[in-house]
Amino acid sequence: MHHRFLLFLFVFTIFTIFQTSTAISIITPNQNITDGQTILSDDEFFKMGFFTPSSSSTNRYFGIWYNKISVTTIVWVANRQTPLNNTSGVLTLNDQGELMIINDRTNTVIWSTNSSQNANNPVAQLLDTGNLIIRNRNDNDTRDYLWQSFDYPGDTFLPGMKYGIDFVKGLDRYLTSWKSVDDPSIGEYMNRVDPNGYPQILMRKGSVVEFNSGSWNGLRFSGMPNLKPNGIYTFEFVFNEKEIYYKYELVSNSVVTRMILSTEGMIQRFIWIERTSEWRLYVSGQLDNCDRYGLCGPFGICNINDSPACGCLSGFEPRFPEEWRRADWSNGCVRRAELSCGGGDGFVKRTGVKVPDTRRSWFNVSMNLEECEKVCLRNCNCTAYATLNIKSRSGCLIWFDDLVDIRSYAEEDGQEIFVRLAASELDRKGKTKRKVRVILIPTLVSVTVLLGICLLIYRKRKQKKNGITSIVIRENNVANEKKEDSELPLFDFNAIANATNNFSDEFKLGEGGFGPVYKGILEDGKEIAVKRHSRKSKQGLDEFQNEVKCIAKLQHRNLVKLLGCCIDEEERMLIYEYMPNKSLNSFIFDEGKRKSMEWSKRYTIIVGIARGLLYLHQDSRLRIIHRDLKASNILLDKDMNPRISDFGLARSLEGSDTKANTRRVMGTYGYMAPEYTIDGIYSTKSDVFSFGVLVLEIVSGKKNRGFRHANHDLNLLGHAWRLYKNGKQLELLDSTLKYTYMLSEVNRSIQVGLLCVQKYPEDRPDMTMVVLMLGSDIPLPEPKQPGFYTERRRPQEAGESSSSNPEWSSSNQLSVTYLQPR
Ligand SMILES: *[C@@H]1O[C@H](CO)[C@@H](O)[C@H](O)[C@H]1NC(C)=O
Ligand SMILES: *[C@@H]1O[C@H](CO)[C@@H](O)[C@H](O)[C@H]1NC(C)=O
Ligand SMILES: *[C@@H]1O[C@H](CO)[C@@H](O)[C@H](O)[C@H]1NC(C)=O
Ligand SMILES: *[C@@H]1O[C@H](CO)[C@@H](O)[C@H](O)[C@H]1NC(C)=O
Ligand SMILES: *[C@@H]1O[C@H](CO)[C@@H](O)[C@H](O)[C@H]1NC(C)=O
Ligand SMILES: *[C@@H]1O[C@H](CO)[C@@H](O)[C@H](O)[C@H]1NC(C)=O
Ligand SMILES: *[C@@H]1O[C@H](CO)[C@@H](O)[C@H](O)[C@H]1NC(C)=O
Repeated sequence: MHHRFLLFLFVFTIFTIFQTSTAISIITPNQNITDGQTILSDDEFFKMGFFTPSSSSTNRYFGIWYNKISVTTIVWVANRQTPLNNTSGVLTLNDQGELMIINDRTNTVIWSTNSSQNANNPVAQLLDTGNLIIRNRNDNDTRDYLWQSFDYPGDTFLPGMKYGIDFVKGLDRYLTSWKSVDDPSIGEYMNRVDPNGYPQILMRKGSVVEFNSGSWNGLRFSGMPNLKPNGIYTFEFVFNEKEIYYKYELVSNSVVTRMILSTEGMIQRFIWIERTSEWRLYVSGQLDNCDRYGLCGPFGICNINDSPACGCLSGFEPRFPEEWRRADWSNGCVRRAELSCGGGDGFVKRTGVKVPDTRRSWFNVSMNLEECEKVCLRNCNCTAYATLNIKSRSGCLIWFDDLVDIRSYAEEDGQEIFVRLAASELDRKGKTKRKVRVILIPTLVSVTVLLGICLLIYRKRKQKKNGITSIVIRENNVANEKKEDSELPLFDFNAIANATNNFSDEFKLGEGGFGPVYKGILEDGKEIAVKRHSRKSKQGLDEFQNEVKCIAKLQHRNLVKLLGCCIDEEERMLIYEYMPNKSLNSFIFDEGKRKSMEWSKRYTIIVGIARGLLYLHQDSRLRIIHRDLKASNILLDKDMNPRISDFGLARSLEGSDTKANTRRVMGTYGYMAPEYTIDGIYSTKSDVFSFGVLVLEIVSGKKNRGFRHANHDLNLLGHAWRLYKNGKQLELLDSTLKYTYMLSEVNRSIQVGLLCVQKYPEDRPDMTMVVLMLGSDIPLPEPKQPGFYTERRRPQEAGESSSSNPEWSSSNQLSVTYLQPR
């Protein structure tokens, strides 16, 4: 009995010693932790020791797991690549401050930490955070740790860990998946901060990128809309010359959460639910199929609500349409129109997106968005830009090549990106932009103020000498709380008088409806066109104001550009860019020059006018009806690009209005739509009619008005319609164009022309449709009978002959005005 008691005492003592030793979180040098012994953190939340991942395995690993959670959950493994196959492993700390696992039988080191610094009385300690550290005994400053397991994570990202790169210490902390649930060795997947370009976190399977969390945008990673401020943890992203890391901290220690990279390559956050004793999935990095990296290829965009999910960014089309139709999107999309680099390119804004892969991007944290745009425009390789930090609305992020891995989210989950497009593509954006535009439409009042300011400044400056200043109109745009500047330079009367040699006849280009037009050469050699409004005409003032109002804000490569205005006493002048090639009608209706207008040029002109008109109707900030579209109002720049001019009769409509009524019908016979001529109703569709007439004139080289045919009494429209009906539309083509035309383009132009001149406005296509029809192979509808297709002989016809000053002739000879009785 006595012996038994002694034995009991002995066992008890051993047991107690064993227990107390585990309660200490610290390991000192030459203290051995053998298999079966465990170490607890001070708060006993974490435990470490040797373990076997599952019953199917006999491998022994040294690791750390949660002590208070009923489901054994390993958060870190030391010897994950070098398991022991029996219980002969020992963990020990040497005097140099290196932790090592030794196979006790063979006395071989199977795993060890490396210490780069000299240790002074080192200890290893399991902290309450689950971090196993080595430090000098008297120094518990986190910055002085000799080593820490948090710098070498496995598949688990714990609160307080820094996830990313420390350039100073040469550390790179990233997750690697386990091979399988019972094998902690390094699996196929890796989720790692990629420091190239602007940093982002890429998840790879082997070397192939499978998922991109996206770049940090100030609030979250661009591709992780679920990463939102919450009551469970706070997070931050730090990026400077010394380090790049992401980190999260618990708000309250009562919640247990961890993030892992699963064996299937899923990034998942779990939260421990004590009540049901389970890890519940809180959020997953990958949401759906659209999160597969680059699913839609370069310049593609993935929208999970679309079917199929892949589409092209606007301005782009599938590279291989056949593949695309078979749901093979990997080759992505290509530009419909090449960038021009030198100038004319612009940007289309796309909101609610995950921004593309930033590995080959450039950024600047201090630039603002306007500077960013400029930098992008200056670099021919730049394809897109965005705000770097959407929280502080600052910084600039620029992409230089293919845009890969864009997806769309709900508006509030995404951010905006500005994609570079050729000017021609920006024109055809059409409808998609309209919604935004309607909100942005500035009050007409503020534009009217412009003229007032013109006058005011003129008075102030009256005593001053020559020179040009500019006036800046600040306009508060309530819709987006953004101030916009529009600048209309004010020219000095004397400067203009000098430029035009005191308005001498040799500088006169022509006589417009409201006064003469002069060519001018400014002191710096710049050529200008000066439209001088008649002094005493009351009508002139209205038209002048109107033109200033309309055109001051318009900017499009197919519209003539207003450079400024000039007001002096009774004088009111508008200063335009000078167009060396004068107007379209001096070419197409001129026996000599007609031949130089080959088909490709004519087609370019047709498309250009269509785009200019589309801009007026839909894309400009005011919805503008030109009301006097005709060959003499289409000017040609030095490259023979068409520029719509003469906005004297133009009217702007508010917001969504598409038609209005006037009692003063003004315009030009031959181009005016029936409903406008007869009822005074003008709309975008009456401009479409004029456009249709213009197209048929350009194709045929004949004027609608004054058209004569031996066999019938029809005008050009009627003639074209008749030919079309009989399948002989090619006879309409200008005889100087034989053999040098593209048949498909000619047929398309004639059919589009006829669709535009249909009698009823509702039958006519809108300009978006026209631009689309001209620019693609979509099947065209059959046109119905045109309006006004028989020539009506009127007395005015006498003055019909080609104007001597066609390029600026506006209303005197060709335009008519009368009051419509109602
Ligand atoms: C234990 O592992 C060693 C290699 O570390 C191996 O050679 C040996 O066969 C294994 N023994 C058992 C019983 O699995
Ligand atoms: C444990 O395995 C090692 C090889 O990994 C071997 O050398 C050693 O003898 C084994 N010990 C026991 C107790 O089986
Ligand atoms: C710890 O293990 C080493 C190597 O296995 C051995 O040499 C040493 O004596 C052990 N120390 C203690 C205190 O057990
Ligand atoms: C320790 O450092 C040596 C040489 O610097 C290196 O070969 C070894 O792989 C390192 N070991 C660990 C566990 O990092
Ligand atoms: C760090 O050490 C000091 C004294 O050496 C001690 O008072 C303090 O509680 C220690 N802090 C931690 C977090 O261990
Ligand atoms: C970033 O932009 C600021 C302001 O435009 C400029 O001063 C700075 O030099 C730029 N930095 C780089 C690296 O280009
Ligand atoms: C644009 O890219 C080409 C080819 O990658 C390169 O040669 C050229 O220097 C780049 N230009 C600029 C302005 O970066």
